[in-house]
Amino acid sequence: MNELDSLVASARELFAQAATPVELENAKAQFLGKAGKMTELMKGMAQLSVEEKKTRGAAINVTKQAIEAALTERRNALAEAQLQVQLQAERLDVTLPGRQRGQGGLHPVSLTLERIEGIFASMGFEVAEGPEIESDWFNFTALNTPEDHPARSMHDTFYVEGGTPQAPNLLRTHTSPMQVRHAVQHVKRYRNQLDAGQGMPEIRVIAPGRTYRVDSDATHSPMFHQCEGLWIGENVSFKDLKVVFTDFCKTFFESDDLVLRFRPSFFPFTEPSAEVDIQFQSGPLAGKWLEVAGSGQVHPNVVRNMGLDPERFIGFAFGMGPDRLTMLRYGVNDLRLFFDGDIRFLSQFNK
Ligand code: DAH
Repeated sequence: MNELDSLVASARELFAQAATPVELENAKAQFLGKAGKMTELMKGMAQLSVEEKKTRGAAINVTKQAIEAALTERRNALAEAQLQVQLQAERLDVTLPGRQRGQGGLHPVSLTLERIEGIFASMGFEVAEGPEIESDWFNFTALNTPEDHPARSMHDTFYVEGGTPQAPNLLRTHTSPMQVRHAVQHVKRYRNQLDAGQGMPEIRVIAPGRTYRVDSDATHSPMFHQCEGLWIGENVSFKDLKVVFTDFCKTFFESDDLVLRFRPSFFPFTEPSAEVDIQFQSGPLAGKWLEVAGSGQVHPNVVRNMGLDPERFIGFAFGMGPDRLTMLRYGVNDLRLFFDGDIRFLSQFNK
């Protein structure tokens, strides 16, 4: 191997040893740099004759090209290696199965509330909502249940700080306070008309929402739901309430095969009062009387608290338990299941 060939060989070897682009550039300088081997070879040509310069020059050129080719080859190899390292580091395994996105759904009681609202809306009822922290006045007194009334003891509840008789100081024990709240607003809107001896549009409203009592077992929860209904006009009768409520039950349970019974009862804010029981004539619940609501003709004292003349306006009200309706509709026997938050139970209602 002549001197030029061994130069190419040693350049190849050094380039091969360079593990990074920086090391490679340093190695390159030894051969192709200003003070490198190639420059040295060129300088050595100075003493040669013209003929010798030609052959020597051509040989040196071939050497230089060989070294440059070796350099390019190594540069590419290093760049390729670096790319591979980067690709490996940024590797994304697109074959992994995607994470399931959980499909949310409505709570069974919310489904019931939506059904109730839809059915009553179709019968011309408005939907109103009111505060869960209520005042003594709306929850009891305005509903003909003064402070010393024994019926209050059945509505033991959670009291919050403060609470003058007019200020919110308790968690409402039923949705009935919405009767007076809503009626007062309605009457206010038509006050002038009323004072002028004209009538007002009938009040037809339902008020669904959360209610609270100190109560907890398989069929009672400290927080539960109620839906109030109120219908006030100059020409309303118990018959209308019966028709509306019967229609509601049949639509809600998707069955014509049920009968209703209005069983005399007592509520301070209605007179007369009745519990509404339903009985399915077929299916798994057939033959049993099931209590679904309280109802009655709004007591004259309550009508007065609404700002209306009980001699002229007559009202009917009902209060039902959406939790119980949900239990009946789906065949659930423990109310607490609704509020435990167990997704295995709740997801069954959103198939
Ligand atoms: N508020 C009553 C309760 O929680 C239920 C009720 C009874 C509501 C009769 C009414 C009614 O509107 O007329 O026990």
